[in-house]
Formats: sequence, structure tokens, C-alpha cells
Amino acid sequence: MTVATLDNTVTWDHSAWNQHTPSEVKFWDQWIMKEGHHWPEDYKRRTDPQAPVTQLMLDLIGELDVDLAAPLQIMDIGSGPLSYVGYVHDKFAIDLTVVDPLADEYNRLLDQANVVDVPRPQPGYFETALATCGENSFDAVWCFNSLDHSIDPVHGLFNLLSVVKIGGSLVLSFHPNEAEQGDYGGLHQWNLDVDGEGLLLNQKGKQMRLQGLIAQQKVVKRIDYNAKTGVKKERVTYLIKKTANVNLSQALLT
Ligand SMILES: C[S@@+](CC[C@H](N)C(=O)[O-])C[C@H]1O[C@@H](n2cnc3c(N)ncnc32)[C@H](O)[C@@H]1O
Repeated sequence: MTVATLDNTVTWDHSAWNQHTPSEVKFWDQWIMKEGHHWPEDYKRRTDPQAPVTQLMLDLIGELDVDLAAPLQIMDIGSGPLSYVGYVHDKFAIDLTVVDPLADEYNRLLDQANVVDVPRPQPGYFETALATCGENSFDAVWCFNSLDHSIDPVHGLFNLLSVVKIGGSLVLSFHPNEAEQGDYGGLHQWNLDVDGEGLLLNQKGKQMRLQGLIAQQKVVKRIDYNAKTGVKKERVTYLIKKTANVNLSQALLT
């Protein structure tokens, strides 16, 4: 059994998750070495220090109660090696924190490829974000295609909602049932999905509802298609405005 220190505050056994990380690092190694491989535009955007903030974030900002006179504090967590959020806007400043548990491996790859002048990831986990960052710390938290790669997604979602400031936002995006479709390969060990009652989590025939956690907040918008391909249910994106502190026990009552 491997008990690893995730940060200075929490230790736990995450050996099963750890066994699945080499394929993730290998994927991003190829992505960096081949400058995006099948996704050259994506690589270009993430390595461009002048990349504008993504339209999704801009669409959301008007809905939030955030102080745009101060730099907008955004955390992209489960970021991969480089953030997709974008780095600049002409009307407000951005203070972008990029976090991923594989940050050390990713930074080694970015050094080899001489990627400079864009924010680099620092190590961290969804599951420990609250202990590390503190409650109500970010105007926006961006979590794309990664919560279902985690060790403990319920704990992760609770942490993500906790670190968003009241009036700020969690942007949560995922490909529904990706683990199921990929036969539980690599870090795809959990499935997120939506049905008529909202967000749910499943794994190998068992499921639980996560809607209780979302229902404590205001869903500004839920987009049930992939904006790039237009394909319905290829991607689900929640824009969630935090309106109250999170109560996990109340959220799990059925
Ligand atoms: C498919 S990549 C997505 C990267 C990026 N968000 C994107 O959309 O391109 C999934 C990322 O989630 C990260 N991840 C896995 N478990 C995590 C956890 N417990 N906490 C935070 N990030 C995690 C992985 O290390 C990996 O970099």
C-alpha cells in the first residue's frame, strides 16, 4: 500500500489512482512534443501569452458579483500541462492559478519543449483544494474534462464549490460517461452524466446523485452539447454561480 503526501495538510492512500497516471503523462508528452498533435490550434492557444480569455468565461462574467476593478482570480484545476482559460482581456486583469496533480511531470515536459511566458501548473488535487486554498478564495474555478479523472469526485466537487467566492462561479465541464465508453482505461475511472433530475456520478453499474450539491447554488446555464462540434451530449458544461456556502450533509440528503 502506498500512502502519499498530496500536500502539507492531507495524507491518504491513492495508489490505485497513481497506477493510472503514466498513460496521462504519455498523452500530454506526445501533445507537447508534437505541438498539439491532432489539436494544433489548442496547443497554439495554450502556449500564446496573449491568448484572450475564452468566450465561455466572458459570457459568464456579466452574471457574477465580482469586482472587475481588481484582477479576476481564476483557478484552472485539473488543467493538464497548460490552461485553456486564456491569459488576457482588454477590460480587466486576470490572476490565473493553474493546478494539476501531475504538475511536476508536466513542467519537466514543458521545460524540454522550452515553453515559456505562460502560467505553469503547480501540484494540487481537487480533493485537497479547500485545505490548500481556503474557503471562498477564487472568483472563478475552471474544471474541464478532469473531475471524472479524480480519486474521489464527490469530495472533489465539494472542494471546488467551497473554494469559489460567494457571487463567483464554478465552470464544470465533462464528456458524459467517458469511463464507460473508454472501458475504464487510464484515469477514466468515474462517469459524470446528467438526466432529467440533473448531475449524477456512476461507476460500473452503481450511481449516486450529485444534484444536491449543485442545487444549493444557482445554475446560470447548462450547455448539453459540444460547442466545437455541435454534437448533443458530447459534452456537458455547467456554469454555476455560488450563492451559499456548501453543506455536504444537506446536499446528500435524499
Ligand atoms: C484529460 S486531462 C484535462 C486537462 C484540461 N483540463 C483540458 O481540458 O484539456 C485531465 C487532468 O485531470 C487531472 N486530474 C486527475 N485527477 C485529479 C485530481 N484528483 N485533482 C485535480 N486534477 C486531477 C489529470 O492529472 C489530468 O491532467
